[in-house]
Amino acid sequence: MLGNFTYCNPTRLYFGEDALSNLGGELDKYGPRILLTYGSSSAKKSGLYDQILAILKDRKKEVFEVPGVMPNPTVEKLYEGCRVAKENDVNLILAVGGGSVCDYAKAVSVSAWCGEDPWEKFFLRMEEPENRIIPVGCVLTMVGTGSEMNGGSVITNPAQKLKIGHVFGEGVFPRFSIMNPKLTLTLPRRQMVAGFYDIMNHITEQYFSGTDDCTSDYLMEGLMKSLIHSSRQAVKDPTDYEARSNIMWTATWALNTLVAQGKTTDWMVHMIGQSVGAYTDATHGMTLAAVSMAYYRHICPFGLPKFRRFAVNVWGVDPAGKTDEDVATEGLNRMEAWMNELGLVMNLRDLGVTEEMFEGIAKGAFILDGGYKTLTRGEIIDILKESFR
Ligand code: NZQ
Ligand code: ZN
Repeated sequence: MLGNFTYCNPTRLYFGEDALSNLGGELDKYGPRILLTYGSSSAKKSGLYDQILAILKDRKKEVFEVPGVMPNPTVEKLYEGCRVAKENDVNLILAVGGGSVCDYAKAVSVSAWCGEDPWEKFFLRMEEPENRIIPVGCVLTMVGTGSEMNGGSVITNPAQKLKIGHVFGEGVFPRFSIMNPKLTLTLPRRQMVAGFYDIMNHITEQYFSGTDDCTSDYLMEGLMKSLIHSSRQAVKDPTDYEARSNIMWTATWALNTLVAQGKTTDWMVHMIGQSVGAYTDATHGMTLAAVSMAYYRHICPFGLPKFRRFAVNVWGVDPAGKTDEDVATEGLNRMEAWMNELGLVMNLRDLGVTEEMFEGIAKGAFILDGGYKTLTRGEIIDILKESFR
């Protein structure tokens, strides 16, 4: 049975090849001082940076910049953004990039005026902002995280070896996001497929929970089928606009909070993957891929009916004459084969993890209890060992 919920998603999306033409109109809604933030090189290389600067100039905006937001943005970088945003009293933060830049913009947005150490307040103590929040707009260039339409913000503290996500409320969601699938065509294949798996895992984290009949589960089965189909097209031909645009839209729906309403959710692959990220700075989607199969095989017996349903409804396994265990196993095997087809990193060893890190990674992984089995630290270590072959 669905629990009680209130649902509102305030982000306005502009989707398609002409999406950027809406940026000027959005900028007109905010004051004159804009903080433009982006990654290391891709936006300049593609010409997107110049296009955006021209739009900002046309709208008579004063532009302050924080370039060089790294994948897995760090707390030191967050402090830098807070300084620039506060000193210049900016009216809007415009993020140009992938999930890292969008997450970063949201972190600066709540932190600049918080009056204390934002790492401690928002990430260690998980407090909600009571201070002024600077509005954020995004121009998305990488597909996977859903950051363009959610309140998530993940920050890494390399000194403390912690990578922590805070899922903020609707006041922190981007006010608008510009999503032109063409802007994602320059992604290197490794990033593209890491994003594909991030999408899949966002869905499975929300699908593998509960035993009730729930509309969201049917929605998620549809999203997964579309993703599997389009990802195969995109891997064959990365310039396939139809596939890439469908995947971009699926990514948004996988984590814009809709399918989680009224359900419990799992998120343990993300918790373990994030801790792996804190130790290795590895690409987010690859950290998930490396631990997923061990995790799902471990919890499958505790949520067998759902794993059976996943096998039949998502992977097309024929259940006739087979035990539930066999059907569920075949579903997971098919998922693993698809992951190999995409060329994902399926082994922690290949991400730079060493056995000496296991204790620390297990300790840094927050244990959540919304899935089919609440893990112990020992079970997390077993999963790490199983993912390290
Ligand atoms: O820095 P540049 O030069 O822009 O290069 C980036 C970066 O190296 C490159 N890139 C982005 N768009 C490109 C491009 N290269 C060529 N052409 C383009 N169009 O891609 C690299 C990775 O970018 P990044 O933003 O790090 O990737 P992603 O979108 O996967 O974001 C990962 C971050 O998001 C967090 C992750 O933990 C990680 O820190 N997440 C955020 C979530 C949320 N907000 O809800 C949920 C997710 O589960 C995730 O945890
Ligand atoms: Zn993710």
